[in-house]
Amino acid sequence: MQTIDYPPRLELARLPTPLQPLQRLSQELGGPKIWLKRDDLTDCAVSGNKIRKLEFTLARAMEQGCDTLVTCGGEQSNHCRATAILGARLGLKVHLILRRERVDASAAAEGAAQCPDGNLFLDYLCGAHVSIYDKPEYQHRLPELFEHWAAHYNRQGCRPYLIPTGASDGTGVWGYVACAEELSKDFQRVGIDPAYIVHATGSGGTQAGLTAGSQLFRLGASVLGIAVCDNADYFSRKVAEDLRQWRESYGLSVDITESNILVDDRYVGPGYAQADAAVYQTIRQVAASEGVVLDPVYTGKAFYGMIDRIKRGEFAGAPDIVFVHTGGIFGLLAQRSRMSEWFTKDEAI
Ligand SMILES: Cc1ncc(COP(=O)(O)O)c(C=O)c1O
Repeated sequence: MQTIDYPPRLELARLPTPLQPLQRLSQELGGPKIWLKRDDLTDCAVSGNKIRKLEFTLARAMEQGCDTLVTCGGEQSNHCRATAILGARLGLKVHLILRRERVDASAAAEGAAQCPDGNLFLDYLCGAHVSIYDKPEYQHRLPELFEHWAAHYNRQGCRPYLIPTGASDGTGVWGYVACAEELSKDFQRVGIDPAYIVHATGSGGTQAGLTAGSQLFRLGASVLGIAVCDNADYFSRKVAEDLRQWRESYGLSVDITESNILVDDRYVGPGYAQADAAVYQTIRQVAASEGVVLDPVYTGKAFYGMIDRIKRGEFAGAPDIVFVHTGGIFGLLAQRSRMSEWFTKDEAI
């Protein structure tokens, strides 16, 4: 097995996460056996894929003597919530630059409620400083906003460390390189040789790490990112850029061909954080048949895409495929009103 010199890493996640088969669902669909890599179990409130990246990102921040983390994302960003919680765990100040999302009319009405929901609630609970900007301003001014808040903390005598969207950069790549190593042991243990590793792609870092790791650890599986926003061209460039930064920052000579970056952008639907009814139906189906909770922003959308591909015969001939469950449960709770009509039946006698 390949040995890799990992850079400094904090032990923050509960690893290894389980790899489990979805027996009933796989049988029902009549396609390949679906295995779930349970990265939704990397911890409790800090569950999901971001903790794997932040093990490396926060190690670097601390190595540089930083005491304040500044990062950004949507109002319901899982990455920002993970950063807020881990910042509190490590005794670091956290400032979140958030983008206000208008998901739909009912969500807008929910936004009018006094108490923040889902991930945002946890951000506040953990003492993060939060600045929320309307989407056009956020999109237009993001680099300037980072500069502004960095200068603000510098003036206070703090040392800020700036983390890009989703911790997807050359350092964050390590998180899913390490996950690929974990998967190689999982595959050996359960005796499978999966043809595909499928996951939701949102800022590209998970895909960059898995693509590099799959090659480094000779997993023999194609890594397929199902886009939850943007298009395949955008992600091919973004993943290639993260990998370039990773190689340059750490002096690595791993050559990843761009043709190995596989992105399916047919399932983005109405846009980021907005899902069609079919995605909510999938979330309900997977929860009721397997006891696994997906979310409408990332994993539910990607899982729906994977099921659709199975139905179209796009994984034909593959006995096993792996879906990486990257978390997101708090995003589901923030959009629960989209599913409430299903739960109004009173079954009392
Ligand atoms: C739950 C969840 N799944 C998947 C992703 C996508 O991962 P990445 O940003 O590395 O593409 C994210 C974050 O964007 C996420 O929060």
